[in-house]
Amino acid sequence: MRPPPTEDLTPWFLTLDDLGGSLDWAEFFDNSQPVELDIGCGRGLFLVNSALAHPETNYCGIEIDYREGRRTARRLKKRAMANARVLGGDANLALEKLIAPNSVSAVHVYFPDPWWKRKHRRRRIFTDVFLDLVTNVLVEGGELHSWSDVGEYFQTIRSLVDHHGAFQELALPDLTVPQHDMDYLTSYERKGRRKGSDIHRGRWRFAPG
Ligand SMILES: C[S@@+](CC[C@H](N)C(=O)[O-])C[C@H]1O[C@@H](n2cnc3c(N)ncnc32)[C@H](O)[C@@H]1O
Repeated sequence: MRPPPTEDLTPWFLTLDDLGGSLDWAEFFDNSQPVELDIGCGRGLFLVNSALAHPETNYCGIEIDYREGRRTARRLKKRAMANARVLGGDANLALEKLIAPNSVSAVHVYFPDPWWKRKHRRRRIFTDVFLDLVTNVLVEGGELHSWSDVGEYFQTIRSLVDHHGAFQELALPDLTVPQHDMDYLTSYERKGRRKGSDIHRGRWRFAPG
């Protein structure tokens, strides 16, 4: 039996390999709007809702799990969204090799995988190296946002950002009571809140020197 045809999701889903080593945002989105990254975008709730709410901003999800990334891209294609895309691949690679310095106005990392087992902790995305890559792509005054329902991981994120020295923490409004099933920032926020977990939130401004 032949495998089912794979739906063409171009330009909503492209892999890092498809881009062939360079990424020009103006060409990628066919406009010169500011770009925000959603690292580990998963099912894309943040990506879709933010892109609909802010047509003046471009959103690029980066998702290592192609299945998940393609599922999100299908939502973007269905709505013919011009200001949202998903890149399939490792965010570290994209930050290091593809994304131009000073070209991104915000980086969002919501509910990064906690890698519970101690021996797997070094797989966590937040490290000093990751923060260096983030500061390299952010414009001055750009923002880093990260939420987690894992208190211990969030404390690690907070101390890495504090010690990095190039970020100023910004205040956040109170969490609101969700009005419906989609009224969450991300699917993992919904999952965490339904379990009764605390949601830890951080927002920082990139302010070098
Ligand atoms: C726990 S899920 C959270 C998904 C989404 N941000 C949310 O809050 O619902 C973490 C996501 O990060 C993705 N991920 C993990 N490491 C990654 C990496 N190095 N580059 C891109 N995506 C990554 C995983 O595949 C997964 O979809």
